Amino acid sequence: MPTNKTPITMARGDGIGPEIMDATLRILDQAGAALELEEIEIGKAVYDRGVKSGIEDKSWASLRRTKVFLKAPITTPQGGGFKSLNVTVRKTLGLYANVRPCVSYAPFVETKHPNMDLVIIRENEEDLYGGIEYRQSHEVMASLKIISRPGTERIVRYAFEYAKANGRKKVTCMTKDNIMKMTDGLFHRIFDEIGAEYPEIEKNHMIIDIGAARVASAPHTFDVIVLPNLYGDIVSDIAAEITGSVGLGGSSNIGENIAMFEAVHGSAPDIAGKGIANPSGLLLGAVMMLVHIGQGDVAARIHNAWLKTIEDGIHTGDIFRPGASREKVGTDGFCKAVLDRLGQMPEKFRPANYNGVPPGGMKMPRLAAYRDEEKVRVGVDVSLTYDGTAEKLAEKVLPCIEEADGMELQMISNRGTVVWPNGQPDTFCADNWRLRFITKDGANVRTSQIIALLDRMNKADINFTKAQMLFTFDGKPGFSAAQGG
Ligand code: NAI
Repeated sequence: MPTNKTPITMARGDGIGPEIMDATLRILDQAGAALELEEIEIGKAVYDRGVKSGIEDKSWASLRRTKVFLKAPITTPQGGGFKSLNVTVRKTLGLYANVRPCVSYAPFVETKHPNMDLVIIRENEEDLYGGIEYRQSHEVMASLKIISRPGTERIVRYAFEYAKANGRKKVTCMTKDNIMKMTDGLFHRIFDEIGAEYPEIEKNHMIIDIGAARVASAPHTFDVIVLPNLYGDIVSDIAAEITGSVGLGGSSNIGENIAMFEAVHGSAPDIAGKGIANPSGLLLGAVMMLVHIGQGDVAARIHNAWLKTIEDGIHTGDIFRPGASREKVGTDGFCKAVLDRLGQMPEKFRPANYNGVPPGGMKMPRLAAYRDEEKVRVGVDVSLTYDGTAEKLAEKVLPCIEEADGMELQMISNRGTVVWPNGQPDTFCADNWRLRFITKDGANVRTSQIIALLDRMNKADINFTKAQMLFTFDGKPGFSAAQGG
């Protein structure tokens, strides 16, 4: 048993948070976890004091000191400019990997998928969650999807290292790179690159639509799944739901220096204060925390007592089914049942064992240095609002172009589809258009040439809303072709 206590930051949260945290802390304590708790306040009470993020400065200091956060769910206020505490904590502390084991416990917990045991590893910071959105015209909204090479390398490598450390055999990547060839294409390419360094692990890639469908219909065929943020958000909820109850899932959010552990569910205000909440999600989150801080033996002790409780049919109301369950208990009763079984092993389920898992989180190798590529500005995409047809717009724009610009109008697109030249009469057009000006031979174009063109367009009353420079990298275009172009 460890002798040195590990400092951790803990928050009881809102709704059922305090009830399930009390039960979890009692089990941690009696199982022999060596923890020094620093409690912070987050969520409703803090929002009520007018703090828009739901967390105060002194709490950040505690998190930076302990680097480990055991967090109960909180209630996010609707409207009023309040920000999601979860998103704030993740992004502020750089918690780039969200890890969610999704396991079914049949026949003791009812599920259509008795043999499911998979882990979702979701990128936590990038993709559409940058929240970079614009209203581009009266009719069109746009959201910017960002996928970076270092961000993707980190999450993909994490997935392979996780698989290796936890005896997992296969890693599946899901993207939509048949459509998003640049953003999702990068994610897929890096998966292939890094995957090659792990020959002992089986790997495959699936397009997200069929991948999500297969997770719902045949989850037992998956082992570890790594996904960009939005797909990961959706697929991890599908996977958690089909195990049987949201009350059972724990999750971790891992950063380079700090990690946060929690239940996958929310604050369940509908059952708060009734003493009936299932503490299992937070408890399994705490088990992941113990493994992370190097107390894997205590983690296994708790996990095995918990598995034995489940197979003994001692269940809270959310998973209680007459026939499959033996005794219906509240939070306290469930907690006592786990305490009674500390030191026992499950008989039906495979016992938990964290012996081979390295403490302190995974030590990740440094990111590769990037090769310098030759970056050449070859044109500009100009977005503007216009009420009329593509032909009329082209007629207005073409006289603004001069020989000295070194560029030609290559195409006009609307909602990503080419509508000039040779547009199709059936293509529906909104009021936001994109004009692509590009050099004929891939030669460099100067910013001053682009500004001169934009100035002439401005004088002709063609007012742009956005100008996006176009670059090639070692001669390869750093921009997508428009559909139909
Ligand atoms: P929820 O997960 O709190 O509840 C959904 C349903 O599952 C409810 O019927 C609830 O009673 C049940 N449930 C959840 N956990 C349970 C447990 N441990 N035992 C038994 N039953 C359980 O989701 P909901 O109602 O959409 O959100 C409530 C609040 O929680 C919202 O303010 C939301 O923003 C917040 N939330 C917070 C999260 C966090 O702090 N990590 C995550 C998700 C939601």
